[in-house]
Formats: sequence, C-alpha cells, structure tokens
Amino acid sequence: MINPLRGMKDLTFEESERFHFIVDTATTIAKRYGYGYIETPILEETALFKRSVGDSSDIVSKEMYQFEDKGGNDVCMRPEGTAGVVRSFVHAKLDRQPMKQKFYYYGPMFRYERPQKGRLREFHQFGCESFGEESVYEDFTIITMISQIFEALGIGFDLQINSLGCTTCMPPYKKNLVGFLTEIKEELCADCNRRIDTNPIRVLDCKNETCQSLLVNSPKLINNLCEECDSDFKKLTALLDNAGISYEVDTNLVRGLDYYNKTAFEFVSNDIGSQSAIAGGGRYDKLVEFLDGKPTPAVGFAIGIERIMELVKMPESTREGIYLGAMVEDAVEKLFALATKKRKETKVTVEYNSKGFKSHMKGVDKANARYAVLIGEDELKNSTVWVKDLESKEEKTVALEAF
Ligand code: HAM
Repeated sequence: MINPLRGMKDLTFEESERFHFIVDTATTIAKRYGYGYIETPILEETALFKRSVGDSSDIVSKEMYQFEDKGGNDVCMRPEGTAGVVRSFVHAKLDRQPMKQKFYYYGPMFRYERPQKGRLREFHQFGCESFGEESVYEDFTIITMISQIFEALGIGFDLQINSLGCTTCMPPYKKNLVGFLTEIKEELCADCNRRIDTNPIRVLDCKNETCQSLLVNSPKLINNLCEECDSDFKKLTALLDNAGISYEVDTNLVRGLDYYNKTAFEFVSNDIGSQSAIAGGGRYDKLVEFLDGKPTPAVGFAIGIERIMELVKMPESTREGIYLGAMVEDAVEKLFALATKKRKETKVTVEYNSKGFKSHMKGVDKANARYAVLIGEDELKNSTVWVKDLESKEEKTVALEAF
C-alpha cells in the first residue's frame, strides 16, 4: 500500500464538507468587501520567494520544496500565496492602473516543516490581497473582514497586533536592537545568534524561554515609531476600539515573512494546541516595487484552513433532494428519465436495486433526502409515483408525467 507523504493528507467525506463550507463562507464575505478571485500557479521561480518572503526567513532558508525542473530551471512549490499574487499583479501591469485592486484566493501551500498537530507540509490557505490603498482604514477593514469570517464560522479568536514601522523608523531601531542583542549574545540560543546578523527582529519572537526572559528589556519598536507610523497605529487601535474588536498589542509580533511594514497581525485560537495561529497578515507597501512594479501600497492576510477545520460550527444538515426507488424490477428503468429531469433542479439519489418499502425508507434516511419517490406495482400499472415529503410527512400519488 502506498501512503501519502509525511505531513500531507487526503481530504474526504466530512472533512471535505467542512473545507468547502469554510471556503464558501469566506468567499461570500470577501466578495461583499469587493474582492475578486485570482488563481496563480503552484510552481514558481525560486527567485520569487527569495526576493519576497526573504532569503533569511525560515520558510526560504529551510522549508522550501525547491528543485530543478527538466529544463534546468530553479523552481519551487509556493510556500505562501502573497508572492505569486504580487508577481501576477506586476506581470499584468496592474501597477500602472490608477484603480484599486482586490484579490482573494484559496489553495495548497507547501512548507517542509516538522509535521505535528496543526502543522502540515501541504496545507491550504484562504487569503486576500488589497492593492493601491495606503490608508490605515484599509488595515482596519481587512481585520474587520477576518473577524466577520470567523464569526460566520462560529470560531472564537484572540487578535494580536503590532507595527513594524517603515523605512524611516525601522533602520535606526534595528541598529539599536542589534546593540542590545550583542550585549546578551552569549546567553541567547544558537538560532538567535545567527539571526543577530541576518534578521535581528526575528530574535524577538524566538520561542526559547531563556531568550524570551532576556528580551523583556529589549528596545521596543512601538515606542520608537516615526510620526506617521505612530499616528497610523494609534488610528488603527482607535478604530478597533470603536468597532468593539478586542485586541492585544504584542510588541514581539514580527511575523515569519520579511515583506511586512507598519501593521502586522495574527489571529490565534486557544482551542487547537501549540500551533495556535489561525490567520496572519499585514501591510507590505514595498513588495510590489521589490518585484519590479511601480510603488503600490498593499495589505493582506491568509487563514490556515486546516487549523480551523475542527473549530467550525457547521450548520445543521437539512434534508435535501429526492430519493428514487422501485419496488418491482420492471420499474427500475422508469427511474432514470425521471432522475435526469429532476437533476436539473435538485439532488437526486437513485437506488438501482428493486427493494421492499422499509428498505427504501432506510435508504431515504441515509441519503438525507427530503422526498421519497417510489414506484411499486400499482404505480407502474397506472403510470404514477408515490411521493412522501419527509418534513411535512405528507404522502400523495401523482402522475409520472406531472412529477
Ligand atoms: P503565514 O502566517 O505564514 O502568512 O500563514 C498564514 C496562516 O497559514 C497561518 O496563520 C496558519 O494558520 C497557516 N499555516 C502556516 N503554516 C502552516 C502549516 N505548516 N500547516 C498548517 N497551517 C499553516 C502567510 O502565508 C502570508 N502570505 C499571509 C499574508 C497574506 N500576508 C499578507 N497577505
């Protein structure tokens, strides 16, 4: 027997219903906010992710499904969705159009991580990317949209926010931070030591407890933002307060991808174990430019579908469609024309074997059908069908032609 690869899963039965309920719910809400569907290739040039997600990030340095294709190209299975959407945006020259553009997507992402509960090597995201809007109102609107999606799915969450500043306030802060980190270097873990040189702000979200205790007194960017970033962040928190969306400012929230500036956020759940981030995102005003487009402010997010699968409150399943069955062999063939006609309007389950009444009624329950439609000897003779509405319990005999 051939098993799926480690960290990869089939999506079947009840789980696939949950998956599509999540995607459908998120799609409906994203469309209300003006987002249109975009699909980009799963395979992209490796350079795309190196330049956007960042060479020094764990995703790029350790977790990429990267290989040489038969034409000798260095390619990679996408580890996330934003880079491909930005590449597509620039490729289609949308950066040269004055209007704002908003895209939503869903699909598989690949990261060669150590699999555990809530952490897969192939997982699915639902994401949105909004281009051309520099106002912090858009950051607020996106956070509101995610809250609405989780509310519609019946999922509780904690929201953590931070500001990662901009090209004015981040460089002097980084210098200051490196100074602080160099002094406590000896006591920090090996990963942190490596990051001091490659990506010092990532030290802030090290999961090692000793490192965290040493970082309590580290300089905080939130206290060193430039005027514009500070005013934007205050506006964002005021808007969230007004809207009654509770949040926590987490000064160590830096995100695992290098393209963010200003607003960064994560939605977490306390009900799913250690892999608690159920959505993440933020602003990335320099990425379009970085991928050779015209400067275009942008903000977006992605929800991890597998992480919220168990949390979703599914609507109660209601009886739907028709179950067709025959109680005499000769009537079986009558069912097919009827099934084809009715399938233009509703779901139809056909039982190919002639059976007794009780056995058919069990089939009706199993198919969760609203209507039982049976043809017995009398119905065959009179060209009628027997119909029972399982909700109103009403029973009647109708002409086959009229049904
Ligand atoms: P991310 O935080 O890397 O952001 O991923 C978003 C979500 O994907 C996470 O919050 C988590 O729920 C889920 N996720 C990540 N890795 C795994 C995994 N190995 N197994 C299962 N679920 C996982 C991004 O990917 C950004 N592109 C989000 C974004 C869009 N920012 C701006 N626009």
